[in-house]
Amino acid sequence: MKSELIEAARGVRGNAYAIHSGYSVGAAVLGSDGLIYVGCNVENDSYGLSVCAERNAVAAMVAQGCTTAVAIAIATKDGGFPCGACRQVLSQFQPLEGEMAVFMVDGEGNVNETTLSKLLPSRFRL
Ligand code: THU
Repeated sequence: MKSELIEAARGVRGNAYAIHSGYSVGAAVLGSDGLIYVGCNVENDSYGLSVCAERNAVAAMVAQGCTTAVAIAIATKDGGFPCGACRQVLSQFQPLEGEMAVFMVDGEGNVNETTLSKLLPSRFRL
């Protein structure tokens, strides 16, 4: 499942709409329902309206009625980390017990594995 998730992120990265930054990002989340949901970054001429790949993948998952993600793979050219805003959004949908695995993969397929709680140790919550 890990390799399937990573390949899904690498694949959807090809659809990234990164007209301004040129930095294409693909994300694939594994829902607690066992399904994979994908998203890519979608930029806009009004720069601030650009949306990250991770948040688009999470939105696709929630739209299908799944509100827990057990893992996410993020594909970029350089294996970049998810931004702070995406960490917070991901934390909303992390398992109540247990970790959300995070796999960052670069253009050559090298994988850096961590967990969301390591990336965001003290999340905001109401
Ligand atoms: N981006 C993501 O898709 N995810 C992140 O976690 C960080 C940044 C996108 C936003 C923008 O389209 C491009 O990468 C450059 O910042």
